[in-house]
Formats: sequence, structure tokens, C-alpha cells
Amino acid sequence: MSAFPLPFTPRRVVIGAGSHAAIASYLREHRPGLEIRSAELTAVTGDDLAWADTYVGFRRPPAGATMGNVRWVHCTGAGVDSWLSPEELDRSILLTRTPESFGPPIAEWVVARVFAFQQQLLALAEAQREHRWAPRERIAVSGTKALVVGTGDVGRAVARALTALGVTVDGVSRSGAPVTEFRTVYPVTELADVVAGAQWIVLVVPDTAQARGIFSRSVLARCDGAVLLNAGRGSTLDEDALTEALDHGRLSGAALDVFTTEPLPATSPLWDDARVMISPHISGVTTVEGAGNGFLECAAELEAARLPKWAVDRERGY
Ligand code: GLV
Repeated sequence: MSAFPLPFTPRRVVIGAGSHAAIASYLREHRPGLEIRSAELTAVTGDDLAWADTYVGFRRPPAGATMGNVRWVHCTGAGVDSWLSPEELDRSILLTRTPESFGPPIAEWVVARVFAFQQQLLALAEAQREHRWAPRERIAVSGTKALVVGTGDVGRAVARALTALGVTVDGVSRSGAPVTEFRTVYPVTELADVVAGAQWIVLVVPDTAQARGIFSRSVLARCDGAVLLNAGRGSTLDEDALTEALDHGRLSGAALDVFTTEPLPATSPLWDDARVMISPHISGVTTVEGAGNGFLECAAELEAARLPKWAVDRERGY
């Protein structure tokens, strides 16, 4: 990416997002000189992209096969997979990702589900609907073991939150290098060997060529009654093998926020599976301030002729 000509000053920005109007007014307020067009993702036109030098949004707009005259894309998500596959954004265009930290919200998403499973909240809600007095054993979360796959910003926040609840937390990363928040970090090559010891397995890995499919059928087959929580990307998990793993007791439950196809098709059997908790990709959602500040921070760096820390390494995919 060092080839990107610096300094670069964004002047004409197209925002393509559901919250485009709010992001646009945030940027107008903080950078009055900026010319802005904004629209829903699907309403961004080829003309907009020919007009703009910069694009802000989570996904490539349908009209964005070539991205017109855009030279910088600021992705409002932490995961930039929609800019890298199936069609990689031209490498002459700078791609940055949002600096907003999704660690705290995703940690809350995880903690909510850990308690929902451990305290059987779904079964209690059902019993309540049926006016059934259905006592059950309350098992503590404290003293359980978790394995967090992905030891970056998000994985570390999840580890801190679970540790605070008395959970012993191990991690898995590409290198297996030690990270303070984890008791032990294993290299991903050992993933299949370490899943059996965990009651909670949390996936917080981006969709990269290396991570795609890592939670495979054979890894699922080595789990020992864990609850699997996926807040990273659907592509990292073999969704087809999931039901089988639940049926065979390899998993006792799953909480899924991300799916191979989103929105999850209405015909998916996962919707009706009482062992599965589904949420619609909401564990870590970019805020208007997060999107706006991320753009402003990167823009300031580019104007000062520095490549922002948030520039995506095309080889790593994040
Ligand atoms: C959301 O999934 C993101 O990558 O920001």
C-alpha cells in the first residue's frame, strides 16, 4: 500500500449506508469544506462514484464494480471482507477500516448469551408463557472454561469480561504468541486438540483466506458439549456441520450473530432449532460517531502524508 500517493486530501465524499444522513451531517459539522453526497447503499450511482474521490461505507455499492474515480475507501466496519471478496477492491485504491473498538459491545453480547444458556433463560421464558412452575438447577458461570478464537482487540475484551466472571479463558491465534488477557494462547494449528476442554467457545475472527472454514466439521467433532458463540464472520464456521454437532452432543448450544448468508434465509433450519440463539449481526455495530471519527482520523493522517494505522494490509485481510 506504500504506493498510495501521499499526501491525500479527500474533497468529494460519497457515503453509502443505512445511516448515511446522520454520518453526512456529522462530517459536515466536523469538516465543513467537504463536499458530500450520501444515499442508501443500493441508491449510490455510478455517477456518484465518478464524482467522488472518497467512499465511506461497509459494503461495495451495487454500482461500484470499478468504484469510478474513488481513490480512498473508508470501510465503516471492523471486518473489511466485503471489500476483499469475492471481488477485491483494486489495489490502487486505499482501503481503511474503522478504528472504533467493537470489543466492549461484543463482550456484552457474549456475556448475555453465556448467562442465557447457563441460566436456561429461553426454557424459563417458555415455561412462563405456559404458566408452568419449572424449577431447574442453577449452574454458576464462575468456574467454567472458555476458549476464545481470535486474540485481537475484540478477543481480548471478551477475555477480560469472562475472566471477571470467574471463567478461565484460553485463546487461539495464528501464532499462539502469549497475550496478557489469556491463560494460554494456542496456535490455530492446535485448534482441534484444545476445543474439548472448553464449555464456551467464542469465535471472533475476521473473514480472511486463512480463517475461512477454520471451525470445520472435524473441529466440531472434537468439541465436548460446548456452547459455540460466533460474533466474527459466518464463513469461519461450517454451518452445515453445526446441526450435526448439536445432534451428536458435540455442542450443547450455539449463539450465532453472523452467518454464511445474511440475512439468514427464512428457510434455514437454524431458526427453529431451540438449541440455537440467533441475532441479526448486531453484536458490534458501528455508531455514527465511530464512522465519522474513523473517517476524520484517517483523513487527518492522509493529509499529513502518513498512511493511517487503519490501512488494511491486503495480504492479511485486515
Ligand atoms: C461488523 O461486523 C464489522 O465488521 O464491523
